[in-house]
Amino acid sequence: MSASFLQIAKGLFCSQNSGFGNVVLRKCDFSNCHVELMPTTLINAPEIDTLNASDVLFSRTDDRGVIVSANDVFKRISGFEWAELIGAPHKIVRHPNMPRAVFQLIWDTIQSGNPVGAYVTNRTKTEGSYTLFAVIMPFENGFVSVRLMPTSPQVNDIKKAYDRIREREVSENLNPKESVAALEHEICALGFVDYAAFMADALERETLAHGQILKRPRLRRLEALSNIQSAVETIEAEGKKIETLIRATNQIPYNMRLQAMRLEGRDGPIGVISANHQTMSDNFATSLRDFVKAATTGVAPVRDAKFLTATTSLIAEAADSLRHDTGMRSEKKATDLLSLSRLADYYMDKSLLAVKDVSNRAAYFDRVCKDMRRMVFGLEMTRTMCKIERSKTTGDTEGLDEIIDRLHNVERQLSEMMARIENAVRGITDSVEGLQSAEKLPSVGQASDAA
Ligand SMILES: Cc1cc2nc3c(=O)[nH]c(=O)nc-3n(C[C@H](O)[C@H](O)[C@H](O)COP(=O)(O)O)c2cc1C
Repeated sequence: MSASFLQIAKGLFCSQNSGFGNVVLRKCDFSNCHVELMPTTLINAPEIDTLNASDVLFSRTDDRGVIVSANDVFKRISGFEWAELIGAPHKIVRHPNMPRAVFQLIWDTIQSGNPVGAYVTNRTKTEGSYTLFAVIMPFENGFVSVRLMPTSPQVNDIKKAYDRIREREVSENLNPKESVAALEHEICALGFVDYAAFMADALERETLAHGQILKRPRLRRLEALSNIQSAVETIEAEGKKIETLIRATNQIPYNMRLQAMRLEGRDGPIGVISANHQTMSDNFATSLRDFVKAATTGVAPVRDAKFLTATTSLIAEAADSLRHDTGMRSEKKATDLLSLSRLADYYMDKSLLAVKDVSNRAAYFDRVCKDMRRMVFGLEMTRTMCKIERSKTTGDTEGLDEIIDRLHNVERQLSEMMARIENAVRGITDSVEGLQSAEKLPSVGQASDAA
């Protein structure tokens, strides 16, 4: 047995004393725990090929993570018997390669009352392994997990990131906080602002890829939210570019006033026009600042709406899988179907609320964008008036001409950026209309369907 395996095994089976924050809350003496020391062969073993793209795995636990119920697919893939699974801690399927950071983050999130999504590699009883995308959520006095087989290419990047984190956890003996920081660092390196952004994106990708493979009808609601998210990100990015442009050119109106003083003395027409230009630029900058702020804070609600929508769809699939499950005891099946039905309603309501927030923002973006376009038009008019006044002066206008040309150039750039923002706002408005007419998410049905 290699030294690193010994370390991994030690970390895995002595985690009761690992100091992993809230882990203490959920630890108990699992006298019926069937986990055995993991053979080294598992660490590099290829994944099993009995997991199908159509499989949806379900399990329900108590508040400490002890398995209370599961579907037959979960049992089949895990290789354990019902007697081994029910009453065992969920870590019975824990794979030694999995970084602790992921479980720490999962528990932190679900114990704070929120759902969480994560790629998780599990072990089977017979030393196989399989990777899933899992959504774990609080439900009544425990937790529910629904999982699908990941089919998007992103899973490979995540597996590599997990290996690096696990390596660091072992070699640097990271504490829980450092471990989660290592995970967040890897997530940022993959281009996400935070873990919430990553999990929403991952669940969306996996749900869409899964639907495509199984030739399911398109999830228009999810697609619309995805388009809205990209559009809000475009608004934020273009808005920030305009802010940079304004900062880089804020001396122009002042210089224009200096030129006006030189050419026509105090309170001449060019001076008045320059002062107007300054006021209009300041108003534009204020509107823009609020607009960019609304875009920045607007990404998270769209992302959350996306995650909740995809979660509701996954719950519906899990319910469908349970309905056709012939391996479960019927009373468990009825209870679990009822749980899933309640969960689906709950997440559907949350998702609809989030969508409502998104459409309010869309209306705001549309209104402010029109105002800003009028302001840009006003700036153009002011420059044109300045040009007309300049043609009436007899002095040396070289300095003023140069300023007017610069203003023209700035307006051209501004106009192009505004056009991209307008395009994005139009995209949001169209997608919001699409959302309102989008198909309803699949209904989970009632517990009586279990019969
Ligand atoms: C509903 C639910 C589902 C879970 N599913 C898994 C799972 O599929 N694989 C896994 O290793 N841990 C899963 N866990 C987390 C385990 O409880 C446990 O935290 C993890 O295996 C790491 O074990 P440790 O915290 O004792 O190190 C799940 C927890 C809950 C509440």
